Amino acid sequence: MFKPKAVKSPAAMPRHVAIVMDGNGRWAKKRFLPRLAGHRQGYESLRRMVELCLQRGIAVLTVFAFSSENWKRPVEEVSGLMDLLVKGLMREVPKLGEQGVRMEFPGERQGLSELVRSSLEQARAQTAHNDKLVLNICFNYGGRWDIVQAAQQLALRGEAITEDSLSGALSLAHVPDPDLVIRTGGEQRISNFLLWQSAYSEFFFSDKLWPDFDAAEFDRALACYAGRERRFGLISEQLAASSDAA
Ligand code: FPP
Repeated sequence: MFKPKAVKSPAAMPRHVAIVMDGNGRWAKKRFLPRLAGHRQGYESLRRMVELCLQRGIAVLTVFAFSSENWKRPVEEVSGLMDLLVKGLMREVPKLGEQGVRMEFPGERQGLSELVRSSLEQARAQTAHNDKLVLNICFNYGGRWDIVQAAQQLALRGEAITEDSLSGALSLAHVPDPDLVIRTGGEQRISNFLLWQSAYSEFFFSDKLWPDFDAAEFDRALACYAGRERRFGLISEQLAASSDAA
């Protein structure tokens, strides 16, 4: 069984945590509730996670709230998620602003209603000056869409396609790549989340359903991360040599 090590130094903390918030539907089903009740509870869990990231000094939190593929869900679930987003933003933006949270919404705007688009733009504009935590809510987002739209931008501008230019055109170019990607709900797959950006991320899979993901489980993920050796393609001895030289 996994025994977490204590997080010993702030350097062992991820700067950027990304989360696939999976399990809302099952949480609701277990309680004989409609799926939307699970998403509402998932929304509460997201609020709690923002507080935890602020407390733990994490600089960037990126969550997968609505994927390019989620349009295929029942129409009432799709409209319920849109509603949750719009009402949630209306309610939370002033407080998030006070807490120093900057909000960004990586994802495709096409296909979203005018109301959703303007809510996203307002929240973005109202929090743009904040610098304690960047909260990326990926909405109508897909990793493949992101790579394609970045390549299209470069082609339109006649720019050479290199790793740097492509990275710079992606919808998460404003933040470093995620150090830690968490997926809740017991599944172990990436589901078209940050395909490019997670090339060297550490992964933590939790059996907890997203609405049940709490401070203790988050700290378990952080402790697990702190115990990993990130080699970025090198070998341990090279890493040791470079940290001795530093
Ligand atoms: C995946 O669980 C979750 C989603 C598709 C939606 C995530 C939304 C929230 C956490 C609420 C916050 C919402 C906004 C709009 C900010 P699932 O429904 O696939 O769960 P299941 O695998 O148990 O069915």
